[in-house]
Amino acid sequence: MNYLPLFMDLRGRPVLLVGGGEMAAAKARMLVKAGADLVVVAPRLERELDELVQAGGARHIARPFRQADVADSALVYSATGDAAIDEHVAATARAAGVAVNVVDRQDLCDFITPAIVDRDPVVVGISTGGAAPVLARRLRASIEALLPARLGKLALFANDFRAAVKSKLESGAGRRRFWERFFDGPIADAFLGGDERTARRAALEAVNRPAEAPEVGTVHIVGAGPGDPDLLTMRAFRLLSHADLVIHDRLIGPDILDYVRRDAERLYVGKSRGNHSRTQDEINDLMVAYARQGRRVVRLKGGDPFVFGRGGEELDHVVAAGIPVEVVPGITAATGCAAAAGIPLTHRDHAGAVTFISGHGKDGGPDADWAALAKGGQTIVVYMGLSTAGEIAGQLIAHGMNPSTPAAIIANGTLPDQKVVRGTLAGLETLVADNGIESPALIVIGSVAALAAGSAEAPRLRAAS
Ligand SMILES: C[S@@+](CC[C@H](N)C(=O)[O-])C[C@H]1O[C@@H](n2cnc3c(N)ncnc32)[C@H](O)[C@@H]1O
Repeated sequence: MNYLPLFMDLRGRPVLLVGGGEMAAAKARMLVKAGADLVVVAPRLERELDELVQAGGARHIARPFRQADVADSALVYSATGDAAIDEHVAATARAAGVAVNVVDRQDLCDFITPAIVDRDPVVVGISTGGAAPVLARRLRASIEALLPARLGKLALFANDFRAAVKSKLESGAGRRRFWERFFDGPIADAFLGGDERTARRAALEAVNRPAEAPEVGTVHIVGAGPGDPDLLTMRAFRLLSHADLVIHDRLIGPDILDYVRRDAERLYVGKSRGNHSRTQDEINDLMVAYARQGRRVVRLKGGDPFVFGRGGEELDHVVAAGIPVEVVPGITAATGCAAAAGIPLTHRDHAGAVTFISGHGKDGGPDADWAALAKGGQTIVVYMGLSTAGEIAGQLIAHGMNPSTPAAIIANGTLPDQKVVRGTLAGLETLVADNGIESPALIVIGSVAALAAGSAEAPRLRAAS
């Protein structure tokens, strides 16, 4: 290890920064965040640094660097971009015994600054020792995605209970177990989910009865998006990597299940039309039963849990059982598949509104206000409409919609085997049959459907034409 990672308390301490340009501004931002008493020496300041000085974040000495500037500094940074000046600053600082960093000149540096993930007071520094700065930035991006936005606040929240835990639990091992339960369980889950009241109540209960504190589980009803794992939300991703048990549907593919914690249990409760491996009541009861065992249950559903997903019924059931529950939205099939097929659902030249309907209502068939839908000037997206495509087209035409209205079908949207076919409303049923379209598929009706790119022409990144 060529560099020892250290975290330095710079609050109120003098730091010298030589240089007034963009590179200096980047360093200044970081030093101001760390609370340093920052002095910038440069004949002129570019806009960003000037604004920072005007805002009171640093003092500016408007002249070239002088040897005496380094005196009393805790650290010196040089970011002039002028090799001779940078070398002079580095040599002067070193002679005065002050550690120096020269931007983009590792050979002149006593210390280097890592790439930083900032969830103050939680801070992660990543360094490749200067060998591969781009790799360090990539690692930072991955860690950024992993760490919840409220992680720093969680650390401060935990700090509120430290003294109480110390006085209640004498043994170090007992305290460690307490904190593991605190950070791995429903207390942290509730806090990170934004429910500080529940988190505080549960934490107080646990502190006051640490030995026999009952393990209360949680249920997260999570949308997994339309299929492409890259379309998972960050929150879904984090919950999958912490869950004890994942109860999932048919539309959740193996690529998404790869994100589930390796030793978590997975329970398939898939439903396809006429083939329910578990009834909805059984699924509801399973969520509650497992949560009552103190487990963190993720109920993983395709798309968005609240769009034709019976997520509302599941939520009611878990709430009624008194289990802490959170709903995490996902990208619904309509928006995910439309984007993947190049269909804008609204468009000022085509559609001023969009309506999602189900091909299978509570009574089995499609159920909609056909007269309102047939009016045009809007986009209709049909979920679960393959077997009732003919009936839907018939209703819309009977209520006045032009039979030549464009229609498109997107099967396996966002997945590698996505298929997009185009036709008209009158030919919708034939379009399904002739192309061997199978579930899951989405039907889009309206003039925007004519904008769909066919399967062969639906690249992720469109080239400008
Ligand atoms: C029971 S609904 C669930 C919808 C889900 N909650 C959502 O927000 O997307 C299932 C239907 O969604 C549509 N669907 C889901 N994923 C799809 C995909 N990748 N491609 C096309 N249609 C999809 C199909 O119409 C499928 O029959």
